[in-house]
Amino acid sequence: DKTQQDAEKLTAALAAVKYVKDGDVVGLGTGSTTTFAIKELGKRVKEGLKITAVASSIRTEELAKSLGIEILDLGSLSTIDISIDGADEFTETLDLIKGGGGALFREKIIASLSKNAIIITDASKKVKKLGAFTVPVEVIPLAYQYVFDQVTALGGKGQLRSIENKPFITDNGNLIIDADFGLIDDPAKLAFDLNQINGLLAHGLFINLTSKVIMSDGTDIIVFE
Ligand code: A5P
Repeated sequence: DKTQQDAEKLTAALAAVKYVKDGDVVGLGTGSTTTFAIKELGKRVKEGLKITAVASSIRTEELAKSLGIEILDLGSLSTIDISIDGADEFTETLDLIKGGGGALFREKIIASLSKNAIIITDASKKVKKLGAFTVPVEVIPLAYQYVFDQVTALGGKGQLRSIENKPFITDNGNLIIDADFGLIDDPAKLAFDLNQINGLLAHGLFINLTSKVIMSDGTDIIVFE
């Protein structure tokens, strides 16, 4: 249930924050699990931890600032010491689906820049094969139908993400197509194929972008790396 899941999220978050050291530039993800980590970081900063951070979403930036965490401009950084983010699904080989919160593009840039990219999750996120969770695809609005058709050609059943009957708009002013590819046999191949589509800004398949996944199952902390 939700209380159990929140306890798992908190446990994983606390374990991840232990890796953060004085002087680190920290990448902050988006979502309910990451929120536990950001709150803990805020506490540690009040106790004297010296860090700066970059945020993967407007939501995260506002939360971090409200807790006294200094936020840097992502576009000016060439490296990030450590990042902490959640995931919608992960496998033991550290392939992920992300973007349930719509922040996949900035999350991917942060993961790409991170020397130590840590993913924190509850036990429900672990899967044998990715794909029960649909793959979010961020698309520049004027390329919407083109990208939708290309995703279809790759075998993805697309659906425009909407909230209260209006298209969901990302922090970058774009649309999201949630694409159902069924269970994905070769995520690296699909990621490659999606990357070839013009007008597709980013997709939620994170391949070779993760240093470790810290998962709590309520009893133990399990680290996949
Ligand atoms: C945000 O775009 C996603 O990638 C999140 O990391 C993901 O949806 C996990 O969110 P929760 O921690 O709320 O499950």
